[in-house]
Amino acid sequence: KGVVTLDPGYKNTGACESAITFLDGEKGILRYRGYSIEELAEKATFLEVCYLLIFGELPTQQQLNKFHTDIKGQSHVDEDVKRILDGFPKSAHPMGVLSSLTSALVAFNPSSVNVDSEEDMYKAIVKILGKFPVLTAWTYRKRLGLPLDYGDDNLGYVDNFVKMMFKKPSGEYNSKQTVVDALDKLLILHADHEQNCSTSTVRIVGSSHAGLFVSLSAGIAALWGPLHGGANQAVIEMLEAIKEDGGDTKKFMAKAKDKDDPFRLMGFGHRVYKNFDPRAKIIKKAADDVLESMGIEDQVLDIAKGLEKEALEDSYFVDRKLYPNVDFYSGIIYRSLGIPVEMFTPMFALGRLPGWIAQWREMRLKKEPIGRPRQIYVGENLRSYVPMEER
Ligand code: CMC
Repeated sequence: KGVVTLDPGYKNTGACESAITFLDGEKGILRYRGYSIEELAEKATFLEVCYLLIFGELPTQQQLNKFHTDIKGQSHVDEDVKRILDGFPKSAHPMGVLSSLTSALVAFNPSSVNVDSEEDMYKAIVKILGKFPVLTAWTYRKRLGLPLDYGDDNLGYVDNFVKMMFKKPSGEYNSKQTVVDALDKLLILHADHEQNCSTSTVRIVGSSHAGLFVSLSAGIAALWGPLHGGANQAVIEMLEAIKEDGGDTKKFMAKAKDKDDPFRLMGFGHRVYKNFDPRAKIIKKAADDVLESMGIEDQVLDIAKGLEKEALEDSYFVDRKLYPNVDFYSGIIYRSLGIPVEMFTPMFALGRLPGWIAQWREMRLKKEPIGRPRQIYVGENLRSYVPMEER
């Protein structure tokens, strides 16, 4: 007690006890509430996983129906929020827009802030689960100049999101089961990942009792960075750049290994996984399946596979235990579904929403203290103020 230890990036510091997600980086294991990610990705729906992460158990059909009904009942977004969205230029990055809109929701839902009881927490949770997909779809539609409206309450949670995103003014959209299934799987794979940068942000902002929506808004901002969720956009941009450059993967590998070059192989490496990322394995297979079922041949997928093979045989990457992570193949799926590259990270945010909520709820229910890291001061000793004319 009293001794401050230094651990930049919290590489070896546990910030909390959590019963939500188990991760073994050496063995490549990821479990939500004890269920393996492989089994959930194959058998569960995203909404079931939301319930599981937040409340700790898989829902019965009745519990799931009630949860979905409560979410649908809260999916409307105040018309004035459209005016806030309208104020953004079309070129604004969707992550900045989403973070701002999520924060703005507080003004329209002030009762969502002071939530001490489980009942009040539940109300705030179904509100954001209802409104966030609408905000995500609207952010995308605004970029394309499409009308902003709602989906169809008779559809499932993910089906409805697909409709809200892609519905043309004529009402047509690609509602193929392959699209919905692929998205459902991707959202499940992104749903939680214990104390990563954005989740820790949500917990630390929430620890000041600032309220769920602003905590999530901060989490979205943290996710935006290219070293975190923004990597899925950066991966496709990198693969496109390799393609444009003539497809010489070796040249880019050499850049990534050059310590004088800031370039990193995006979609490679992970703070915790030092063997393989189990999510990447599932996504790689899903990317193959989606492209095949949609009859798409994508040169970028071939470049990605070539790059992966080379990196896995290269001593630089092998020695540092750098493997493809979840973001390496997810962009290829998003692209084949017609989702533009700037929307990749918002898709990650939609997937991570239940994880952030579950972690925030756990933190509040356990009455965790305010997050307040210490530091080791390395600045000047006491100095006297120097008047302006003497400086
Ligand atoms: N390309 C080239 N070298 C790398 C890479 C990479 N992608 N990742 C790590 N290294 C090197 C790094 O230069 C260092 O080398 P050395 O020991 O010679 O100095 C060593 O590997 C260890 O790297 P680190 O930066 O200390 O590791 P970290 O745990 O702090 O960072 C990471 C983890 C994910 C930020 C990093 O691997 C990275 O920047 N990867 C690329 C971005 C990316 O794909 N991010 C998505 C992560 S998964 C999803 C998510 O979190 O949202």
